[in-house]
Amino acid sequence: MPFPNTKYMGSKQAILSFITDTLSDIEFDTALDAFSGSGCVGYAIKEMGKRVISNDHMRFAYHIAKATIENNSTKLSPHDTDQLLKKNRKAKHFIRSTFKGLYFSDEDNSFLDNTVANIEELSPVKKSLALASLCRACMKKRPRGIFTFTGNKGFDGRKDLKMSMKEQFLDAISLFNNAVFSNVLRNKAYCLDVFDIPNKAIDLVYIDTPYVSSHSDCDYTRRYHFVEGLCSYWRDAEIQEHTTTKKIKSYPTDFKVAKTAEDAFRKLFEYFRDSKIVVSYGSNGIPNKKRMVDILKEYKKKVHVEEISHTYCFGNQGHKKGNKNNSVKEYLFVGI
Ligand SMILES: C[S@@+](CC[C@H](N)C(=O)[O-])C[C@H]1O[C@@H](n2cnc3c(N)ncnc32)[C@H](O)[C@@H]1O
Repeated sequence: MPFPNTKYMGSKQAILSFITDTLSDIEFDTALDAFSGSGCVGYAIKEMGKRVISNDHMRFAYHIAKATIENNSTKLSPHDTDQLLKKNRKAKHFIRSTFKGLYFSDEDNSFLDNTVANIEELSPVKKSLALASLCRACMKKRPRGIFTFTGNKGFDGRKDLKMSMKEQFLDAISLFNNAVFSNVLRNKAYCLDVFDIPNKAIDLVYIDTPYVSSHSDCDYTRRYHFVEGLCSYWRDAEIQEHTTTKKIKSYPTDFKVAKTAEDAFRKLFEYFRDSKIVVSYGSNGIPNKKRMVDILKEYKKKVHVEEISHTYCFGNQGHKKGNKNNSVKEYLFVGI
């Protein structure tokens, strides 16, 4: 099935076959994708015919997973699409006034305000499909899909940036509808801190935390705060008014700073000690390969490492694209 990819930071889309090849050598029925991000790994495991539990503490990642992994059958019908585009008298003007001139045109901002009001009238699964589509539309209309800067920097005349929000939204609906399929299993999506996921009856946990490195920060909220706020229409998200980007406060996680990362991995392996563990990590990452093997060995009898070379095309700044800091080995640490 075609999965709607994005340029999500740290997405494993480019090395999916390396991951699924490794997983196919392991016996399991139920897998947890504990840090789902773009959702592409959980989706690929669903395609392998396994039961998938997906989790990410970001709401927009959760809606993608609910729409494509938990959801086995529901699509947005042409009637739903018409309803999503209708003028809604209850629509507020929050985006148009709060983000005026920052990321999108007034027309696109009003489209977002109106569409969110329409989305609120949908059933939960359709709501996830529509929110995933709307977030995708917003990301497609930003250079590199991020919200760390305002204005027109990086607007190079690409078709994606020129398309209206409405056109992007309609494209995204069709992509998400096409991605819906059934693996005849009860898959589940959560939006929790990893340590709040029910950790019983999971045969295998796939772990893909933010990579701590000396080259760039790995703050997902800083990059994707706009789509994150959009999913709750900023009801549960406090904007930091002093920031030019009007970003929301970053979610706490021990996985984004070198000082706490090693202990966080230890805590994570302890939490999932009853499951087989597969960890994605890069050669730029802290802890390094040897430390990671040592830590995993504290919890698992058999540990081995698979590796592949990979160049990330995601740079924090444009000039970093393709430079050697983005050329890394990708590891899969397997603990059985
Ligand atoms: C490297 S990305 C995952 C990429 C994903 N495997 C993909 O291919 O798109 C890491 C993800 O971990 C999430 N995350 C970070 N800390 C978390 C925590 N404590 N609990 C749950 N999710 C967390 C981030 O929101 C981010 O989406």
